[in-house]
Amino acid sequence: MVRRNIKEKRLFLNTNLGKSIQETKIIFICVGTPSAKDGTVDLGCIKEVAEEIGKNIRRPKIIVIKSTVPMGTVRNLVVKIISKYWKGNFEIASNPEFLREGNAVFDFLNPDRVVIGVNSSETGKVLVKLYRKIKCPKIITTLESAEMIKYASNAFLATKISFINEIANICEKEGADVEEVARGIGLDKRIGPHFLKAGIGWGGSCFPKDLKAFRQIAGMDGYNFRLLKSTIEVNNYQKKRIIGKIKSLFPSVKNKKIALLGLAFKENTDDVRESPALEIAKKLQRLGAVVKGYDPKAIENAKKVIGEKAIFCNSPYQAVKGADAVIIATEWRQFKYLNWKKIKNLLNNPLLIDGRNLMDPLKMKKIGFRYIGVGRNYEKLN
Ligand code: UGA
Repeated sequence: MVRRNIKEKRLFLNTNLGKSIQETKIIFICVGTPSAKDGTVDLGCIKEVAEEIGKNIRRPKIIVIKSTVPMGTVRNLVVKIISKYWKGNFEIASNPEFLREGNAVFDFLNPDRVVIGVNSSETGKVLVKLYRKIKCPKIITTLESAEMIKYASNAFLATKISFINEIANICEKEGADVEEVARGIGLDKRIGPHFLKAGIGWGGSCFPKDLKAFRQIAGMDGYNFRLLKSTIEVNNYQKKRIIGKIKSLFPSVKNKKIALLGLAFKENTDDVRESPALEIAKKLQRLGAVVKGYDPKAIENAKKVIGEKAIFCNSPYQAVKGADAVIIATEWRQFKYLNWKKIKNLLNNPLLIDGRNLMDPLKMKKIGFRYIGVGRNYEKLN
């Protein structure tokens, strides 16, 4: 897509910021806003780019902030920095992005909505026109509402996952199956079927960072965001809970070989930031287990986190060979289609811990596995 658009002279790449600023009408700021050590948002890149814009701007422009930033950043920080250097007019907008890693192009072109936070309705109209080819509702809001919509969306999605994970844990006690329960509740249009997949918790470079920041922002403004605190707590617990399950399956985990299928924080990415899979790997290593990891894309990144002690394998079959248990830790679809009979025969002990409820428990049981999922009770069934 990048090559085609460069060839057709619709996309120009350069490292000359001044030139790009002067030649364009609308400027999007899309820099990263990582977590600072204390959990607040590191706005260093935003500040730097705002300064550069301020120094290079010669005519009125529309400056759009796409990066995820705390409420008030656009009005109180970006505008002030630019105004320090540029005394003329400019318009400002907040246009948060809702795409998922691994689905970026599709999500960008097929969003559920486009949110445009502005100070003036004229700027809103220009940006609506810019997105005219994208068919979806476009909502115009204040700057602060747009910034808040981004945090509230991620917080709600993470809360939905933490909620179903809690339901899963109760399912285990009550003899219910969380997959059936999720389907049953998800068909209620008011609830919806998405983000109700129970598992070992959410990770990545967005939910953990944004939820921490959102809680801090509320706290600094004197509000105790109780629900968000619980959402985070449940997620931390979910990762510990699976370790508890593994511990209960062996007299001691020490020297046990554990195959970990999946290292990335989710499928279709090589990103291991805040990956639940790697947290599990680290905990197992601390308990003295030998972790044999496989991932279709994330091995190189995982090496930097659990490198020294872990064994990395080129195929899932190599990972399970001689292992005392296999854990599915990332929801890679291709794991579903592995030769599970072969896996059973390669394992030292046919124990399958499905941390993402990817497999059909009855099929796995028929093959001869002891199957342990999240919020499922198939051990008791025939
Ligand atoms: C998330 C949001 O989904 C995007 O809308 C948002 O734009 C993005 O953050 C961002 O702020 O930039 P992403 O971090 O790419 O996107 O990942 P998700 O697909 O949301 O998954 C996050 C985590 O939740 C993963 O660890 C995944 O395994 C887990 N998950 C997801 C579940 O455990 N259950 C589910 O039902 C869905």
